[in-house]
Formats: sequence, structure tokens, C-alpha cells
Amino acid sequence: MCLMCELKSETKYLHVRLMHSKYFQAMLRGNFSLEMYLNELFGLEVIYSGIESKIQKYKNTELDFIYENYIYKVSWIRDDISYFNHEKFNPKEKVIEKAEKFKEAFCNALNKNIVESFGYLYILEGSALGTFILKKHVVRKLNLTNDGGTKFLSNSQIDVKEHWANLKDYVNNNVSAGFKPSVIEEAINGFKIINEMYAAI
Ligand code: HEM
Repeated sequence: MCLMCELKSETKYLHVRLMHSKYFQAMLRGNFSLEMYLNELFGLEVIYSGIESKIQKYKNTELDFIYENYIYKVSWIRDDISYFNHEKFNPKEKVIEKAEKFKEAFCNALNKNIVESFGYLYILEGSALGTFILKKHVVRKLNLTNDGGTKFLSNSQIDVKEHWANLKDYVNNNVSAGFKPSVIEEAINGFKIINEMYAAI
């Protein structure tokens, strides 16, 4: 089975667990607050700011194509936070602790082996595939307009499906089979930590 197929099948139960978390159930059922959303945005800010500052230093590696085509997102997250004038919001400690844990696991993998780090990048890149569903609910519940407060969920100017298709092709054709078990192990670890972060919101 191809690496991207295995990643999907081996982490499916963790994606399902995420979708059934209190946070996403509240979002999908309209039983959702700005405070919950801000906790998510602050957690994501920790993750994306931490890894995006590192990614720039990892060019010219086996995952060149993936890291060169990576679209930086932390400015969208910060704009979303600013939109609500909540730069000084006090997020839950546990959310930040889990976000730091994800960031550290990602950075450790980057230091150990750039290919294994893909297990974590897989989670972040894949998460863009569901944002169009989530955005509708956030916009409706928080009465938002014109991407204000939802830049991250809007994936401005990206064709998410095309970006994902290119990423899948590259990974399936360029990552050697020997790396499969460790990439999958890192992805499972990352998905478990992300579940912990969302459970803490
Ligand atoms: C209720 C919340 C969520 C919904 C409704 C949702 C929905 C989706 C959808 C529709 C897909 C595309 C599935 C396909 O084409 O087969 C997808 C893929 C994916 N999502 Fe989510 N998602 C949610 C939350 C998340 C979160 C929070 C993350 C991680 C931070 C995440 C990570 C992924 C990954 C890694 C994939 C790629 C799976 C693959 O094809 O290999 N999702 N999601």
C-alpha cells in the first residue's frame, strides 16, 4: 500500500476521535462560543509559529518539494485573533501545554530525520481538507462576514485539493519504503497529541 494510503488508514481512528471531540461537536451543533474558538486559535498559533520558523531552515533536503511548497499560515491565525481584538486573551494552560508538546515533537523529528517529520506535517496539511466544513459553522455561530476571523479556515488563495494531490503524489513517489514505519509512528504520536489539545479546549 502507498505511504499516503497507509497514513490515512493507520490514523483514521484518531481523525474520527478528533471529529467526535467535545470541541468539534459543539462547533457542528452550534453550541459553540468565541472563547472556545480563541482557545483553538491560541493553540494553533503556538504550533504554527514554532514550526514555521524552523521550516525555513530545512530547505535542500529529501522533502524539498514539500517544504518549498508549504504555505505559511501563522499570519492568518494572528489576523483571526486580532479581528476579535483578543490579543490579550488568556488561553487555557492545558491547551497551550499540548500545543507546545506537538510543536516539540515536530521539531525533535525535524532534528532527528527530516523524512520522519512528515508524520507531523501530514496532520497539519491534511487538516486543511476539512476547514470548508468548519468555516460555515463558525461564521454562522459568531455572525462573521468576509473571512473576518476565519482566515485560517478560509485557506486564502489556496486550491486545497490541488495542493493535497501534489503533496500525495510527491510523497508516494519520493519517500522510500524503509521510512514508512517511522513516518506512521510519528503521525500517530502527533494525532494523539492534537487530540489531547482539542480535548482540553
Ligand atoms: C470536525 C472536524 C473535522 C472535520 C469535519 C474534518 C473533515 C475532513 C475531511 C472531509 C477530510 C477529507 C477526507 C477525504 O478526502 O477522504 C479530512 C481529511 C483530513 N483531516 Fe480532517 N476534519 C476535521 C478535523 C481535523 C483536524 C482538527 C485535523 C488535524 C489537526 C484533521 C486532519 C486531517 C488529515 C490529516 C486529513 C487527511 C486524511 C488523508 O486523506 O490522509 N482534521 N478531514
